Amino acid sequence: MACEKSKILVFGATGYLGNFMVKASVSLGHPTFAYVRPLLKPNINSNANPPKLGLLKEYEALGVTIIYGELDEYGKLVAALRHVDVVISTLAVPQHLDQLKIIQAMKDAGNIKRFVPSEFGNEVDRVSGLPAFEALLENKRKIRRATEEAGIAFTYVSANSFAAYFVHHLLHPHEKREEVVVFGSGEAKAVLNYEEDVAAYTIKAATDPRVANRVIVLRPPGNIVSEMDLISLWEKKTGRTLKRIYVPEEEIVKLSETAPFPDNIRMAILHNIFIKGDQTSFELTDDDLEASKLFYDHNHTSIDALLDIFLFNPPKPKLASF
Ligand SMILES: NC(=O)c1ccc[n+]([C@@H]2O[C@H](COP(=O)([O-])OP(=O)(O)OC[C@H]3O[C@@H](n4cnc5c(N)ncnc54)[C@H](OP(=O)(O)O)[C@@H]3O)[C@@H](O)[C@H]2O)c1
Repeated sequence: MACEKSKILVFGATGYLGNFMVKASVSLGHPTFAYVRPLLKPNINSNANPPKLGLLKEYEALGVTIIYGELDEYGKLVAALRHVDVVISTLAVPQHLDQLKIIQAMKDAGNIKRFVPSEFGNEVDRVSGLPAFEALLENKRKIRRATEEAGIAFTYVSANSFAAYFVHHLLHPHEKREEVVVFGSGEAKAVLNYEEDVAAYTIKAATDPRVANRVIVLRPPGNIVSEMDLISLWEKKTGRTLKRIYVPEEEIVKLSETAPFPDNIRMAILHNIFIKGDQTSFELTDDDLEASKLFYDHNHTSIDALLDIFLFNPPKPKLASF
């Protein structure tokens, strides 16, 4: 007998990662729900945000149940939660602490089997960053601790870097620039995972008993690259040579202290990933769960394959969210 699929509710479903998450949930056969701000409800504000209205129509066509509500509409929140088993939040950085409202509502609803808070980056309990980034990491840690205190079963997803997002950011493939900016020496090793894989691994982990109350780290061996590796690979694929413009570490550190928000955070993140190399700064042990090992049958996208996608059918860039 086929086992019943978990019902999955996504917060932040209309966002960059949320879009991948909703589609992964549907394609893995889960009844999928999206809790969406009523501003986007077609009959309330018909021309408010056409791209998002289009997205919601696409979701409905996929069979996704849209539930309209704000995060501070507590009754609506609890009612929505009572329909589902698993909650995945892909809310953006400014909304991270708003997840405390979701945690309280899950506690009161009492039926949620798993919560995945909005992290999808570094393993926050094992790394640290420059102050502008550290503040963001600290909010993620606060949400972890609040989830644990509320006694809600969790899965924390350390997705490392979104590959398509960073390929856009580092190589600007749409613009065919002659130059590329290199942060520090460009030799630090980062982990770049394609957003489709981040979403698929998240859905699999959130519904797998082996990942209950555990951290899952996405560190497939074929996705560990330095900025220099990435540039060389891209040069090989395109047949072009890019001029490297080096930005020294001291300059990035200074910009993380002096640039206006949110550029200060971006600089601190670039420092952490591409200069400090924090995503590979700790060894994974036999006690750690690594996604490509645990879900070895998932055909994930290597960096080489991702660059082919950029060459022949480039994905749209992510719009800035903060
Ligand atoms: N590892 C990486 O490389 C990387 C890169 C980027 C992001 N991330 C992480 O991924 C997660 C998702 O980020 P994202 O960039 O996908 O976010 P995003 O595109 O900005 O999406 C944010 C979502 O939050 C919703 N939202 C915004 N303000 C809201 C509010 N006041 N109340 C309720 N909902 C609100 C938006 O809904 P509306 O459509 O209604 O505005 C949207 O659905 C974050 O935790 C971020 O840190 C990681």
